[in-house]
Order: sequence, then C-alpha cells, then structure tokens
Amino acid sequence: MAEFVSAAKTSDIPPGQGKTVDLGDKKIAVFNVEGTFYAVDDTCIHRGGPLGQGELEGHMVTCPWHGWKYDVRTGEMTLNAAARVSCYPTRIEGGDVEVCC
Ligand code: FES
Repeated sequence: MAEFVSAAKTSDIPPGQGKTVDLGDKKIAVFNVEGTFYAVDDTCIHRGGPLGQGELEGHMVTCPWHGWKYDVRTGEMTLNAAARVSCYPTRIEGGDVEVCC
C-alpha cells in the first residue's frame, strides 16, 4: 500500500528546480514551483529521459533528452494530453518533501 515517504529536504530543491530521487524501486522527479512541490515519474515516456534533470519553466518541465514537455501538476505531455507520466501526492513534514507512491 502506498504511503508518504521522505524524498528530499525542501532546501535541496530550490524554487524553479527539480530533482530525481529513488524511492523504493521507483525513480521519481520532484519539482518546486514557487514553493509548491510536485512529484511525477522520472522516466520520460518517449525514450526514458530523466525528467527530474529537465528544465522547469512555470509548471512545465522539458525532458533533457529530446525536448518533450510535461505539466508537473498532472503529468500530461503537451503534444498529446492522453499521454502522461504518473503523478503522486506530496506533503511537507518537518522540512522534508514527502511523496506518496
Ligand atoms: S526521452 Fe524524453 S523527449 Fe525523448
């Protein structure tokens, strides 16, 4: 059963940036959009690029490999909203970003 686990210190992910974290057997991309944290699968559905290392502009992250863009709030890919990565609930606890996945 999914439960919240610590993914990073909030201070590790400044506003406008993201980070790839290993949570169990999953790679999760965590983003800070003006103090609100979002979590999606790290693996781009095109060819597996690491979304946590992509450039974040507003709520959109660009895959660093070939430029596909995703909305970190929903996981939707801009070229085809039916294609998406999974997204996960987040919360802040004691200075940590926790993700439920
Ligand atoms: S692997 Fe992400 S756009 Fe190609």
